[in-house]
Amino acid sequence: MKLSLNICLLIAGLTLAAASNSTGSLLLTENATTTANNGSPVANPSAFATPITLDLKQYWDLFVGPVQTATINTTVEATPIPTSELVPPPPLYYSAFPSGYQSPLVSMNESWKFPSGFFWGVSSAAYQIEGAAQAEGRGPSIWDVFTHRATYLTVSNDTGDVGDNQYYLYKQDIARIAALGVPYYSFSISWSRIFPFGKGPVNELALAHYDDVINTCLQYGVKPMVTLYHWDLPLFLQNSYGGWLSDEIVDDFLSYAKVVFSRYGNRVSHWFTLNEPIEFCQEYPMPKGYFTAVTIPPEAQPFFCGHHALLAHASAYRLAKSMGINGTISFKNNGGYKIPLTNSTDDALATQRAWDFNEGWFANPVFVNGDYPQSLKDHVSTLGLEFTNEQKSLINGTADIFAHDAYTSYFYFAPDVGVADCLTNSSNPLYPGCYNSSNTGPTGWLIGAASDMYSPWLQRATDWVPAFLRYIQDTWPSGGIAISEFGWTEPYEELRTLKEDILSDYTRSAYFRNYLESVLIAISEGVNVVGCLAWSIMDNLEWTSGYHAKFGMQYVNFTTYERNYKASFFEYVNTFKLYAEDPVTPIFVE
Ligand SMILES: *[C@@H]1O[C@H](CO)[C@@H](O)[C@H](O)[C@H]1NC(C)=O
Ligand SMILES: *[C@@H]1O[C@H](CO)[C@@H](O)[C@H](O)[C@H]1NC(C)=O
Ligand SMILES: *[C@@H]1O[C@H](CO)[C@@H](O)[C@H](O)[C@H]1NC(C)=O
Ligand SMILES: *[C@@H]1O[C@H](CO)[C@@H](O)[C@H](O)[C@H]1NC(C)=O
Ligand SMILES: *[C@@H]1O[C@H](CO)[C@@H](O)[C@H](O)[C@H]1NC(C)=O
Ligand SMILES: *[C@@H]1O[C@H](CO)[C@@H](O)[C@H](O)[C@H]1NC(C)=O
Ligand SMILES: *[C@@H]1O[C@H](CO)[C@@H](O)[C@H](O)[C@H]1NC(C)=O
Ligand SMILES: *[C@@H]1O[C@H](CO)[C@@H](O)[C@H](O)[C@H]1NC(C)=O
Ligand SMILES: *[C@@H]1O[C@H](CO)[C@@H](O)[C@H](O)[C@H]1NC(C)=O
Ligand SMILES: *[C@@H]1O[C@H](CO)[C@@H](O)[C@H](O)[C@H]1NC(C)=O
Ligand SMILES: *[C@@H]1O[C@H](CO)[C@@H](O)[C@H](O)[C@H]1NC(C)=O
Repeated sequence: MKLSLNICLLIAGLTLAAASNSTGSLLLTENATTTANNGSPVANPSAFATPITLDLKQYWDLFVGPVQTATINTTVEATPIPTSELVPPPPLYYSAFPSGYQSPLVSMNESWKFPSGFFWGVSSAAYQIEGAAQAEGRGPSIWDVFTHRATYLTVSNDTGDVGDNQYYLYKQDIARIAALGVPYYSFSISWSRIFPFGKGPVNELALAHYDDVINTCLQYGVKPMVTLYHWDLPLFLQNSYGGWLSDEIVDDFLSYAKVVFSRYGNRVSHWFTLNEPIEFCQEYPMPKGYFTAVTIPPEAQPFFCGHHALLAHASAYRLAKSMGINGTISFKNNGGYKIPLTNSTDDALATQRAWDFNEGWFANPVFVNGDYPQSLKDHVSTLGLEFTNEQKSLINGTADIFAHDAYTSYFYFAPDVGVADCLTNSSNPLYPGCYNSSNTGPTGWLIGAASDMYSPWLQRATDWVPAFLRYIQDTWPSGGIAISEFGWTEPYEELRTLKEDILSDYTRSAYFRNYLESVLIAISEGVNVVGCLAWSIMDNLEWTSGYHAKFGMQYVNFTTYERNYKASFFEYVNTFKLYAEDPVTPIFVE
């Protein structure tokens, strides 16, 4: 009775105060104010008389509702990969008719190489692939709410309830990449599996699960790389204090990091604390009515998030070093190369502001001086977000490599009214960044070939990669640059019904080949690129685009959960067979 009353009130925007106790139950006390749809606090007309206590299942039911389960719900052992699956496709470029046989037109360029120690692999993220949403004590994250309650956020109401079911199929998934000789697998840990409420009681079943994922990687000669936070904030932390909007997140993230570092420590070669804070901070303000209300003005919220994300990252970095963790530690920044649309001084200014409000937001503090770029600092200081000298020293220098997710590039230019006018008018839609952008260049053409319609933001702009890598090296000195994500959606892939059509993803092959050649050019010109990770190991839940946008180098049949290598996977591996100094060694083949 109480619970159904709760659900109605929650959807109406009830503000709940919640606290967990050491057994993992929750105490929810009704807050005397609630939030109207315009965000202003109003008196709550239907207050609870007494606090109620919920266990984890009730918390799920109250905030998320029923979740789907998979028919495969125990860990599956791996079987050897049949050699018939390892036959590569025909080469990407054919010689001209009538030579009578197929041979690559582009032969090896002897001045290119990926130096010894260069890491390369494939990547994924917990909520996008694991499934098993409620299995073995996992608590809900904000993404469970986005996909189940605020369903308008995702295409077709797709959820990560079952995902790729990797929670149970990881052994075969690791065996499949080992069979192609992929040396690294980058995945993320679900915070709300380890701490179902984000803090408080630790879930040993989840710790044992990731223990086995890591050990299985090592058993197959695949080095595990771990991201601590890939957007799946434990719901409880959002509801108790606003998640990343509060400085309370720093200590909770640190407690989580400490458990993970102590448990997996030196078995992980590379750690990433946070994935793409630029993106997850723009999840704020969260959809109204689904989360506990906060009082910070909506347009200021991303900057509060970023402020605490920097402190959380830096604290976790210092903690890891103090614990003697020997893998590299960094966060994953993201964005594309920024090309001024014209040679005007206003476009140059707008482009610089775009760097400052995106990459520079997190890269300046970590790689330059512990503080925001000046243009951003001018803005956030009006919000009361200033780092103390102590915090600046905490943040400065807290990344071993510059990890960057770089898929494409854009043109940048001044707002219609000019940068200066925009800066004095907070009603301008582009305020406070006061830069505009487009994928269309000065001649009216797209920057490069379009990908699938479910990723309109992604064009093939690989020619700009060498300039981008040089820019990063010159602007944010680091221990080397890693492309920590890059990838492609094959146009219309979801409309293909025949398996052989789906697997023949030659525009994705071309993207990987061209991208890697651009990386090789940069390396040959003296840019210190230390590794790259393709997105993604397989088709998965592409956030708000659901399962429609396909980024996988393996096809996943969402009826059978069977995986198949696409042509692009072979092209990706082949580029390293050609150019990597370290040998590519397939294992676990029949
Ligand atoms: C109740 O909500 C208001 C407004 O969001 C907030 O200021 C206050 O701290 C909340 N009280 C509790 C007990 O959480
Ligand atoms: C936590 O909540 C459970 C369920 O209500 C209760 O039985 C237990 O006594 C509480 N523990 C503490 C330490 O308050
Ligand atoms: C696992 O799946 C089987 C059948 O597929 C079902 O009977 C069982 O209840 C499931 N177990 C859990 C814990 O979901
Ligand atoms: C998604 O869910 C909403 C709310 O439950 C429902 O109104 C809508 O019809 C669903 N859309 C699809 C495509 O299933
Ligand atoms: C980290 O330490 C472990 C165990 O001491 C060792 O096996 C591993 O090779 C080390 N890794 C690195 C990157 O130094
Ligand atoms: C900008 O100036 C350079 C050097 O003069 C020139 O090569 C380039 O075409 C100009 N770009 C645009 C978009 O006008
Ligand atoms: C930040 O660290 C870099 C080296 O990592 C150093 O050169 C620079 O002086 C530091 N800046 C400040 C303001 O501490
Ligand atoms: C941003 O650029 C587009 C053209 O790409 C233009 O239509 C729009 O008005 C610009 N926005 C502002 C606020 O200047
Ligand atoms: C500020 O920007 C808004 C939105 O573009 C516009 O309607 C308004 O006229 C501008 N105000 C001034 C003083 O320019
Ligand atoms: C996916 O699996 C189903 C069930 O076995 C099968 O009918 C379908 O053809 C498969 N899809 C593809 C593209 O192979
Ligand atoms: C080979 O690589 C060098 C260095 O990047 C480049 O200058 C040259 O154009 C490349 N040759 C071919 C045929 O691509």
